[in-house]
Amino acid sequence: MKIIITEDYDELSIKGAEIIAEVIKNNPRAVLGLATGSTPIGAYKNLVKTYGLGNITFKEIETVNLDEYAGLGEESEHSYVSFMRENLFDKVDIDLKNTHLPNGKAENLNEECERYSRLVFSHTQDIQLLGLGSNGHIGFNEPFTPFNSLTHVVNLTENTIKDNSRLFEKEEDVPRQAITMGIREIMQAKKILVLASGKNKAKAVYSMVKGEVSEECPASVLQRHSDVMLVIDREAASLL
Ligand code: F6R
Repeated sequence: MKIIITEDYDELSIKGAEIIAEVIKNNPRAVLGLATGSTPIGAYKNLVKTYGLGNITFKEIETVNLDEYAGLGEESEHSYVSFMRENLFDKVDIDLKNTHLPNGKAENLNEECERYSRLVFSHTQDIQLLGLGSNGHIGFNEPFTPFNSLTHVVNLTENTIKDNSRLFEKEEDVPRQAITMGIREIMQAKKILVLASGKNKAKAVYSMVKGEVSEECPASVLQRHSDVMLVIDREAASLL
């Protein structure tokens, strides 16, 4: 793993966007694996800025997102599809037909997982962006998810529901299930970029980098990938 430690979140966001922009410059038809959550918002802002300066275009870029809440779609401001449109897709020249997320509103979620898994396997990510759960999850692959898991429906842990409730009015409003890309589909990416910021990520960062490779900490599997770039701020790096 290559590790870049930044002073703060702003610097992390600039660095993260630079790494993604570089992939786009090298291959204007790249497949980007994207993440939601608070951490990548700054990187998306900087990416939109870079696009605004005319340095990159998303015209032929394809995207595959990590996850989506069960039951939520475009009509909900809390869905990840809405998040992506608000933070990136509606601000650049990407063709929405080339953007892919699991469909949280599918009638049969298990069939939707199979469809999405096939789609991701046919869209090898040139770069996969990841945030890190405070319990070490990547995507919504919670502790003890098998490393060979494919796209699947997950019951979110209490820990994750609590972490994510800050974005909802009440904790009860947080969906209890989600569809997530599996660890195997994450690991197929040619390059992986992990962003982590703040003290509450320090333990997970430590386990990911220095801990034993174990399903107890899903992110520790990244030690087995040959091209991982970790961009973290001082606070997230404080236990390393
Ligand atoms: C989001 C995702 C999650 C988040 C993680 C960290 O698509 O898959 O794994 O990356 O929960 O979330 P934040 O960035 O909000 O701390």
